[in-house]
Amino acid sequence: MATLTWDQFVERTRAFPGSAIPVRDLARLVKDLEISEDIITSHQAWSPDAYQRIPLLRSENLEALVLCWEDGQETFIHDHGPSCAVAKVWSGTTFIENFRRADKGERPGFAKLDVTERLELKPGDMTASDVGGIHAMGNHMGGRRRMITVNFYSPPLSRIQTFDRATGEIGEKLYPALLETI
Ligand SMILES: [Fe+2]
Repeated sequence: MATLTWDQFVERTRAFPGSAIPVRDLARLVKDLEISEDIITSHQAWSPDAYQRIPLLRSENLEALVLCWEDGQETFIHDHGPSCAVAKVWSGTTFIENFRRADKGERPGFAKLDVTERLELKPGDMTASDVGGIHAMGNHMGGRRRMITVNFYSPPLSRIQTFDRATGEIGEKLYPALLETI
């Protein structure tokens, strides 16, 4: 049962020493967080060009964003560099693909990826990705239906890798340009 208000949640996250909250602890806090309608209503933006990212928080050890996805919008395949991530669905159905490296880095600048799972998350559902996790997420609902997720990263995002779906070519993005990718 959700028991933490936003302020209580932020206070709890500040109690962790250092700059990183372990993914298991972050997932537990996000599970207990009761996201209010007010927070979502006041942090919405929509664009036909790309899903929109509205900052909720950037502290020493946590970054939180509201992501607003029009039908058909999705991320690149990516990791989060040194950060772990937890995402919670507010509305709509979130399509997630998780990947693992199927190579040992033999070819510099390229990765061979295998899909390990495909998930459909409903409102209230969560997904967690530890440091090094590779995934893609998006709104594939069709019917011009919108989707909102709330995403959390610890430590705050700094650099990420992207993986070209067709060629496996690895790219790197630094903050804040990476926000266009996660
Ligand atoms: Fe991500």
